[in-house]
Amino acid sequence: MGNNPKRAIGIFDSGIGGLTVVRELLKILPQEPIVYLGDTARVPYGNKSRETVLKFSTENVLFLLHHDVKLVIIACHTASSFALPFLERHFKHPILGVIEPGVEMALETTRSGRIGVIGTNATIGSGAYLHAFSRRNSKVKVFQARCPLFVPFVEEGYLSDPVTRQVASRYLNPLKAAGVDTLILGCTHYPLLKPMIARVMGPRITLIDSARQVALKTKEVLQSMGILSQPRNSSRPLRRFFVTDEPRHFESLSVRFLGRRVGDVAKVDVAKT
Ligand code: DGL
Repeated sequence: MGNNPKRAIGIFDSGIGGLTVVRELLKILPQEPIVYLGDTARVPYGNKSRETVLKFSTENVLFLLHHDVKLVIIACHTASSFALPFLERHFKHPILGVIEPGVEMALETTRSGRIGVIGTNATIGSGAYLHAFSRRNSKVKVFQARCPLFVPFVEEGYLSDPVTRQVASRYLNPLKAAGVDTLILGCTHYPLLKPMIARVMGPRITLIDSARQVALKTKEVLQSMGILSQPRNSSRPLRRFFVTDEPRHFESLSVRFLGRRVGDVAKVDVAKT
């Protein structure tokens, strides 16, 4: 612990999807060193129980703290939904989840007070979004939809296929019918389906990409704690990527999620940290 600004931001996700958060961090905080952990051996989290996701998330945080990070971002919506309050109680480090920043943005955006949220089975079932809205005493009406097939579609690269469109219509039509004017993309993978989701929902609906909101929130927190890295002209900030299964699949999919391929991904066993 300590407050040396040079220490890295630690990020974990159930796998590759958290790279959508890394992509936004690189735009907003390009000078920050990053340590990323993708729990690829145990993905997906989206259909697992609270207890299991708590256990995995705790191990992931311990791994990142072992790398002396100054702040932890839970890039995974499922892990944020189930584990954030528990992790905040158990660790002294600042820990950010992806639920609150999306909720704040949605409340600023909505005009009709009717907001949609889409996510994995676990995220929607956890009620985390509903709690986040009710904690703010907001009068908005929230409509949720589980979209479990979106994650495999994105990983298969079916971003604009007819099959994806058909499934998207089935998942999203009830939200359209409910008259939402704002839709939170409550899963790491959904930003990649933005064009498809926008087509199905129509031009009047604003899509909230939590990844960008999380990066902005991270900047705010680092600034308020006085631990924002200062830009240095000489050296490129450290970027380290770890996974819990063999790295090849992660490396090749990274192009889709990050816009470029990450190399030198190391395999680790987080249960042994
Ligand atoms: N990262 C997960 C999320 O944002 C999606 C993938 C999974 O189910 O593990 O909910």
